[in-house]
Amino acid sequence: MSEQLETKATDISINDAHQHVGERVRIRGWLYNLRKSGKIVFPLIRDGSGLMQCVAVKSNLPEETFNALKGLTQESSLSVTGTVRAEPRATGGYELDVDGAEIIQRVEEDHPYPITPKDHGVDFLMDHRHLWLRSRRQHAAIQVRHEVIKAIRDYFDGHGFTLVDTPIFTPAACEGTTTLFEVDYFEDEKVYLTQSGQLYNEANAMAFGKVYCFGPTFRAEKSKTRRHLTEFWMVEPEMAYADLDEITRVAEELVVSVIGRVLDTRREQLNVLERDTSKLESIKAPFHRMSYDDAVKDLQAKGSEIQWGGDFGNTDETLLTQDLDKPVFVTRYPSAIKAFYFQPDPQRPELALGVDMIAPEGYGEIIGGGQRIHDLALLEARLAEHHLPREAFEWYLDLRRFGSVPHGGFGMGVERLVAWICGLEHVRETIPYPRMLYRTRP
Ligand code: 4AD
Ligand code: MG
Repeated sequence: MSEQLETKATDISINDAHQHVGERVRIRGWLYNLRKSGKIVFPLIRDGSGLMQCVAVKSNLPEETFNALKGLTQESSLSVTGTVRAEPRATGGYELDVDGAEIIQRVEEDHPYPITPKDHGVDFLMDHRHLWLRSRRQHAAIQVRHEVIKAIRDYFDGHGFTLVDTPIFTPAACEGTTTLFEVDYFEDEKVYLTQSGQLYNEANAMAFGKVYCFGPTFRAEKSKTRRHLTEFWMVEPEMAYADLDEITRVAEELVVSVIGRVLDTRREQLNVLERDTSKLESIKAPFHRMSYDDAVKDLQAKGSEIQWGGDFGNTDETLLTQDLDKPVFVTRYPSAIKAFYFQPDPQRPELALGVDMIAPEGYGEIIGGGQRIHDLALLEARLAEHHLPREAFEWYLDLRRFGSVPHGGFGMGVERLVAWICGLEHVRETIPYPRMLYRTRP
């Protein structure tokens, strides 16, 4: 046995290879790809943290080991030992000179890994989502998602917000009764999957000042667009004593900070996704700001059919930002097209003090929020107008009976934000297991 083989190999993650140049290490992973060239094979191994090309030379290995590597099938699991060498031309910048290998489980030839380097249709890939997550682009998008979630939490944690969790089983609708998923609870009781943590956030803001909730939300929306999921993650801050300007300012600062973080730490993943990062580098404050009135005029001038009082469709949102390199905040929508809880504009009571952030490049509405009604009588009237069951909202009305103050916040959809940051065509690739109109599996 050579002197080198007697040194114990350190277990490392591929993304730490730069700290182990010249050392003998062990990598435990899966075979991503295999190239052969005569008496050398190049297994490309992934371990979840990264990809590393290994170099296995026939004359340096026991015959059995070399042959096992040479005939290895895609996604077989294995561990390899060897010495790390810097190799600027290799994926990840390092290579491993292999001195030993152990196959953990060999994928059978007659039942090969279903996802091959050839093109597959998206339905096939979605049916194999549990395996597709191993592919480079999917892996990169989910890593960006992780960073985005972390950056969002860091922003709120660093700005005086307390995380206060809100329930998923709820007795009342927040965003309209047409998109509720009803669940059979015990003893004939019906509850709904939450559409938004906002109503509870309002209570929490009166207890903690500045709060946020962050969790899955559900919409029984029969829309089959590239922006809609039936289960998605939303972060929702809520602030006591905040007005529309303050809500907008926080939304802007949050988005700038999250995009900055991803640019700082996830360049590699953005490269894998072939994202034009110059488009993200221009996302700096101040964003554009526009009233609903002006947005309608702008859209009409660009040829949209929209009339004052109508809601923006996907095409309108795309049209609105087509010449912009930054998001636009659209404020003061007609109350008639907004949820029951919006505070009216004191100057023009037919308008709601709401704000949506529309992202450029066709990614549409990423953030929706605004000021909430703080007056008891007005809120009671709105509940009645919207035919909402009063008893389910009694606790919510209490907030207007006991120290009511102007307040507000917003909700930001994680998947739409990640799709925009990654430059992905569809939100389905931004969440590990998407739930959509026609997709509840795997
Ligand atoms: O505009 P929405 O419906 O606002 C609310 O739910 C408020 N209660 C939030 C608040 O003020 N606390 O949703 C907020 C965001 C949207 O801008 C969008 O990013 C995302 O949630 N969203 C969806 N994402 C994916 N699929 C869907 N079906 C979505 N519906 C909303
Ligand atoms: Mg909205």
